[in-house]
Amino acid sequence: MQAVILVGGLGTRLRPLTMTLPKPMLPLVNRPFIEYVIKLLKNHGFDEIILSTGYLPATFDCLKDDFSNIGVKVTCVSESEPLGTCGAVKNIESLIKDTFVVFNGDILTDINLTHLLEYHRQKQALATLALTSVDDPTSYGLVPLNSDGHVKEFLEKPSWDEVTTDLINAGTYILEPEILSYAPSGENYSFERGLFPLILEKGLPLFGFPTSAYWLDIGSPEKYLRAHYDMLDGKVGIGLDMEQVRPGIWLGKDSKVADSSNLFGPVLIGPNCEIGENVSVTGPTSIGENCVISDGVRVESSVILDGCQISGSSVIKNSILGRNIEVGRKVHIEECSVLGDNMAVGEENWLKKGIKVWPDTKIGPGTIKF
Ligand code: GDD
Ligand code: MG
Repeated sequence: MQAVILVGGLGTRLRPLTMTLPKPMLPLVNRPFIEYVIKLLKNHGFDEIILSTGYLPATFDCLKDDFSNIGVKVTCVSESEPLGTCGAVKNIESLIKDTFVVFNGDILTDINLTHLLEYHRQKQALATLALTSVDDPTSYGLVPLNSDGHVKEFLEKPSWDEVTTDLINAGTYILEPEILSYAPSGENYSFERGLFPLILEKGLPLFGFPTSAYWLDIGSPEKYLRAHYDMLDGKVGIGLDMEQVRPGIWLGKDSKVADSSNLFGPVLIGPNCEIGENVSVTGPTSIGENCVISDGVRVESSVILDGCQISGSSVIKNSILGRNIEVGRKVHIEECSVLGDNMAVGEENWLKKGIKVWPDTKIGPGTIKF
């Protein structure tokens, strides 16, 4: 069965991390996020996957080979300009053979796609949307239902006075190929503001399938951190590939932790890392490969990607460090700060309050203190 994963977005809310990698390729506990989506699809029989790319398309090429050993064929189709969520699928219409699934490429979920597909078939729907409940529906597509499961209306990014339910579009649809005949070719067109409202206007069978599966859109720094916390806390029905060395501690091959250091799980450390003397790492924390965390450093509830070097006595708390970052001594990085790839922070800087630092920046010693 076929699946289309939409991965063409710019991921602006996750900048600076997405300046160098598209959101679906950002690591989640040290694996490209999209791997989890592909494995979920495979577990439910979707073995032919088309990635609709646009932003930094070459970064997805490696996936074409990576899944052949588990029997999944991955094809990448790139847009020269963004066609919108539905336009992107219309663009690959000629490749679609039968009932298929569309998946937003930034959703962490363990949804039972087999049940979704069964419901879709039972209702003989043209489209069935997975729905989830959230506290604040205003950042999503609001989808109120009739008692028989028909979608009543589709309101993308509603204002609070339009909110009549907490059910939102979970970004996973089962579609019949003929639905695409209602979408225009070669222009920017979205499911949310274009096709779904049109299908409702025409009275065609559009159903919603509420699910209580784990669900998170990883589109902001807070949610990217949350995705790590929930994976490490075992809240997502998706296992981690690495073995635990003791409960809640994962340590990659050839990584060393000094005896005087403490790891308070859940903590995952990738291969080839060095953790110096008197370091404390408090979970949920994920550290990439080839990282050096020097003496006296404190890391808490953070994500540190590959190749970072943190010098003595620095504190990293509730923050995200991109790849290959050098942090000097006595630096504080706290309060959901986000540092882009390949940057350097000189000693005694205080980066707080969600500060975002662009890739390749160099911050001199003692420059930022607030
Ligand atoms: N190929 C392609 N082309 N992909 C795109 C394009 C495009 O022009 N625009 C967006 N995408 C991809 C993004 O990469 C992302 O994986 C997915 O489509 C959804 O785009 P977002 O930009 O993340 O949308 P959103 O989160 O604001 O809203 C969407 O998802 C919500 C659930 O998280 C909507 O579908 C909402 O209705 C939904 O509730
Ligand atoms: Mg999103």
